[in-house]
Amino acid sequence: MTAGEDIFTEVGVGPWMGERPAGEHWDPELLEQGDRRNVVDRYRYWSREAVVADLDTRRHDFHVAIENWQHDFNIGTVVRNANAFLAAEVHIVGQRRWNRRGAMVTDRYQHVRHHPAIEDFVAWAAGEDLPVIGIDNLPGSRPMETVTLPRRCVLLFGQEGPGLSDPARAACTQLFSIAQYGSTRSINAGVASGIAMHAWIRAHAGPPPA
Ligand SMILES: C[S@@+](CC[C@H](N)C(=O)[O-])C[C@H]1O[C@@H](n2cnc3c(N)ncnc32)[C@H](O)[C@@H]1O
Repeated sequence: MTAGEDIFTEVGVGPWMGERPAGEHWDPELLEQGDRRNVVDRYRYWSREAVVADLDTRRHDFHVAIENWQHDFNIGTVVRNANAFLAAEVHIVGQRRWNRRGAMVTDRYQHVRHHPAIEDFVAWAAGEDLPVIGIDNLPGSRPMETVTLPRRCVLLFGQEGPGLSDPARAACTQLFSIAQYGSTRSINAGVASGIAMHAWIRAHAGPPPA
């Protein structure tokens, strides 16, 4: 290797070689120009709409919600985790605009719903008959390590700093905490969301597609 040579392999695939495959799920532009998106290999050259439609056939029964009052940069990570663990939907509670940076474009493959206030979110959850499970290390929270999350639920996360707001806490049928052992008061909401979603996966999901 010579100085300055790129040590990283380029992500994705180049233009399709040979005869074009037939099928509505293929994206002509990606076939033509190559597919450098952050998607698993089985979706290479598929249109975004076709990927979403395929994911929709096997989304899990849990939803994810996060309060967004201060443009928390962790929300992007929550959305990315929701995509990786295939949440049914992501709910942004509070401000409509959220910091997309950490999402790494995964929000394009998720259903993201906005609720201006906690009351709107609570009304939606009640209409769907979904229990709201608060994830926060608050007084009275039960250790998540000792429980099984319900199959049908919304996991609600709080804001960096204050955590779950008072109305959000009041809306929760249960509150669960993630065990910590060090000196910090908390982990960030993005990390907490990954741990909680994976707890749901361990309890209810089968193996992922090959
Ligand atoms: C940075 S925390 C802030 C709040 C925290 N209650 C405090 O006292 O500092 C932001 C969000 O991350 C999640 N979180 C962080 N640490 C957690 C833990 N140990 N258990 C459960 N959720 C946690 C919660 O959803 C919380 O609302």
